[in-house]
Amino acid sequence: MKYKVRSLMSHCGFTIVASELILTFPIVATGLCGTEMKLLGSNTRYPIILGHEGAGIVESVGEGVSTVKTGDKVITLFLPQCGECASCLNSEGNYCMQIKQSFTNLMSDGTSRFTCKGKPIYHFANTSTFSEYTVIREISVAKIDKVAPLEKVCLISCGFSTGYGAAINTAKVTPGSTCAVFGLGGVGLSVIMGCKAAGAARIIGVDINKDKFEKAKELGATECISPQDFKKPIQEVLVDMTGVGVEFCFEVIGNPEMMAAALASCHESHGVCVIVGFLKSGVQINIDGFLFLSGRTLKGSIFGGWKSRDNVTKLVSEYMAKKINLDPLITHNLNLDKINEAVELMKTGKCIRCVLIL
Ligand SMILES: NC(=O)c1ccc[n+]([C@@H]2O[C@H](COP(=O)([O-])OP(=O)(O)OC[C@H]3O[C@@H](n4cnc5c(N)ncnc54)[C@H](O)[C@@H]3O)[C@@H](O)[C@H]2O)c1
Ligand SMILES: *[C@@H]1O[C@H](CO)[C@@H](O)[C@H](O)[C@H]1NC(C)=O
Ligand SMILES: *[C@@H]1O[C@H](CO)[C@@H](O)[C@H](O)[C@H]1NC(C)=O
Ligand SMILES: [Zn+2]
Ligand SMILES: [Zn+2]
Repeated sequence: MKYKVRSLMSHCGFTIVASELILTFPIVATGLCGTEMKLLGSNTRYPIILGHEGAGIVESVGEGVSTVKTGDKVITLFLPQCGECASCLNSEGNYCMQIKQSFTNLMSDGTSRFTCKGKPIYHFANTSTFSEYTVIREISVAKIDKVAPLEKVCLISCGFSTGYGAAINTAKVTPGSTCAVFGLGGVGLSVIMGCKAAGAARIIGVDINKDKFEKAKELGATECISPQDFKKPIQEVLVDMTGVGVEFCFEVIGNPEMMAAALASCHESHGVCVIVGFLKSGVQINIDGFLFLSGRTLKGSIFGGWKSRDNVTKLVSEYMAKKINLDPLITHNLNLDKINEAVELMKTGKCIRCVLIL
């Protein structure tokens, strides 16, 4: 089956080949996440269609697709939920083994679903949402409320859920606790909302860009600091500020030095440090092993610990019921063909989330 679609690269006669199909849908809205910013300009293979924070409407479904149909509103899931692998079957884990198939940026047979003038274009995160159309497996979408505004709930596809869930599910922030959040982008601000929802008494925001402080405070940070304002390392500043270190610390930057600092900022005995920031495979973190003697915990978190298909539908319902708020995270809206402006806004730290609309 072949779909010829109007495209960003219209000069290019862009074709989506839906071999192992599944379902196709036009993307209606997609956010630009910090993860894409990390991939741009590094040794990513080009040409590639990035984008993983999307929402759209199903256009057609392939044989055997039973849980979504034409016309359904869906959110893309960079972390699928196959329901059958060891992680999906375990009540704690959410790292569905099927995600690993997306790491090659190609189909399992080495071909691509996207071509331009006959040349292959690499996939990204099994979602490739920076496109008018995409082709996705059933296990990589969650069906959502018919009336949900896609230009808002697309943030549930990554940024919001990742941060909010890191506080609620991974760290299990407790009422009255002290938290610190390193990195106040869309994901870090969502961690702050999660800490607040969990009843944290003190939430310290940490960022080198002070323009992020106002929104962080609006969303629940009780104070904000910049590491650049201190001579001492940030972990010593946080231990001084709290007397004992923070109970929950989140690294939401993707910087190995800050990850080590986040762990050292935690309470010696029961402090929990959650790593949300993304590091490429092979990047090492230099940690003093003595930090573990007293009992600290270091944990990773993907997609906020949510079981993607099961939980995304509910998160959208919570947004519709006004139990969670995404709107403050969306600082910009642009058409997809202005994507380079969105990249610039992220690079210069002027935007939290720019939602690209078609
Ligand atoms: N684990 C997951 O499932 C998952 C999902 C989404 C994003 N991520 C990762 O989370 C991280 C944050 O994503 P985002 O979309 O919020 O990105 P972002 O770029 O919007 O935010 C990053 C923030 O970190 C700040 N920062 C940069 N260097 C710093 C430093 N040395 N000290 C203090 N602050 C610093 C920046 O000023 C910015 O405000 C990225 O690494 C991204 O790849 C992980
Ligand atoms: C993900 O994409 C790869 C190709 O990138 C493909 O082999 C695999 O079947 C896809 N998996 C899912 C879950 O869509
Ligand atoms: C998330 O989904 C799991 C099932 O996979 C369910 O047990 C859990 O209650 C859900 N969490 C929320 C908050 O809905
Ligand atoms: Zn699975
Ligand atoms: Zn993301």
